[in-house]
Amino acid sequence: MLHKKLKPFPENFLWGASTSAYQVEGANLEDGKGPSCQDVKKVPEGTSELDVCADQYHRYKEDVALMAEMGFKVYRFSISWSRILPKGTGEVNPKGIEYYNNLIDECLKYNIIPLVTMFHFDMPAALDERGSWGNPDSVNWFLEFARTMYENFGDRVKYWLTINEQNMLTLVGPMIGTLHLPEGCTNVLKEIYQQNHHMLVAQAKAMALCHEMLPGAKIGPAPNIALIYPNSNKPEDTIAAQNMNAVRNWLYLDMAVYGKYNNLVWAYLEENDACPEFHEGDAEALANGHPDFIGFNYYSTGTVTASDGTEEGGGDQQNSRGLPGMAKNVKNPNLMKTEFGWEIDPIGFRNTLREVYGRYRLPIIITENGLGAYDTLTEDGKVHDPYRIRYYQEHIKQMRLAITDDVEMMGYCPWSAVDLISTHEGMKKRYGFIYVDRDEFDLKTLNRYRKDSFYWYKKVIATNGEDLSE
Ligand code: BG6
Repeated sequence: MLHKKLKPFPENFLWGASTSAYQVEGANLEDGKGPSCQDVKKVPEGTSELDVCADQYHRYKEDVALMAEMGFKVYRFSISWSRILPKGTGEVNPKGIEYYNNLIDECLKYNIIPLVTMFHFDMPAALDERGSWGNPDSVNWFLEFARTMYENFGDRVKYWLTINEQNMLTLVGPMIGTLHLPEGCTNVLKEIYQQNHHMLVAQAKAMALCHEMLPGAKIGPAPNIALIYPNSNKPEDTIAAQNMNAVRNWLYLDMAVYGKYNNLVWAYLEENDACPEFHEGDAEALANGHPDFIGFNYYSTGTVTASDGTEEGGGDQQNSRGLPGMAKNVKNPNLMKTEFGWEIDPIGFRNTLREVYGRYRLPIIITENGLGAYDTLTEDGKVHDPYRIRYYQEHIKQMRLAITDDVEMMGYCPWSAVDLISTHEGMKKRYGFIYVDRDEFDLKTLNRYRKDSFYWYKKVIATNGEDLSE
């Protein structure tokens, strides 16, 4: 659709940015915090441990002040489950509650709305030992955690996100360091989709509990959505794209919104003897959880051709290797790539927004979008990152076109507010508007520096997205 006139960003549009606890906080075993699966995993060779990260635990005041200087309306961060409940259930850690109270109050001091992700890749290690999401009790563990957060922070936190990128936990868990398999597991796909099922039920119950305990608060999911293109106009490529879209994307949003398994996904699971078992009350719980909005992370699209049955599966968040019997992933020659090999598709952002809104008709907030790159701090304390500015210019332009297409947008939280540790590519893969002075293994000063993109984003926010110029 070629528009003659663009609609403006809505008044009160929520401009901000995101982080997650295990990637930004550090202090990973301090003040009573229990270890999470991220603290006990073996990090990929050549990448930093997750013990110090960006040290936000000790520097949150400085970070929030810098976000306020950029004009943030919202800050999306996650709460570390094992900082609040060191063993995952039972005893509450008062120091953990105090930390998040301080962080929330610091945001509110500058009129920054806290948008809290309840779970971002960091299962308490004590619960991993009890079977992680494979244990049917995991639904109740998560509800206890949710209740603890609602009780302690619900007076001030009005926007909640349930589980970050549940689709990536399911599809590429080993890459992120989250997949826990029971010893001797013989049907891995079934086990993974049983874990996935427990997460879906936990999410639905947490949404219902939020509405019961915190009237007026809003809650939504936060999967990683990437529209999948057919590689050609061969009809069988469209079948492959439908398959991949269903398994990668729609399963999660259909469940969050309609409480039902996507039919293509169910057929795929049946075919592979991997259908999850429903426990008593699961169907009702899934039907009773309703999101108020859709949050999703967008980095790129994907492209597939028909499956020839030899696909390997696996990969990382944006580089899937395909799904055996469903679709084969191929490169898209029309797209550029980041230095870390992820395709860049700003028009795909508009495509994805149009598709998601058309399917679910709920307001959308983008909970992640960004460019991982090598940045350099100059001797005079500057970081020139025009590549990041260009990336955002193009994506924000496309978001505005989507708004003009009548997609209801609530906000935009790129990844990330502050440099932090990547899921599997270390500190060198930087995303922030705020540079953190440390290397992969040398912690240096951990001081903060404003990148060029910091000043640029400040202007974008001040003009409510009107001025994207450099
Ligand atoms: C998303 C995650 O997958 O992408 C973040 O929610 C992650 O936790 C981000 O950091 C970027 O991915 P990566 O692998 O470059 O850190």
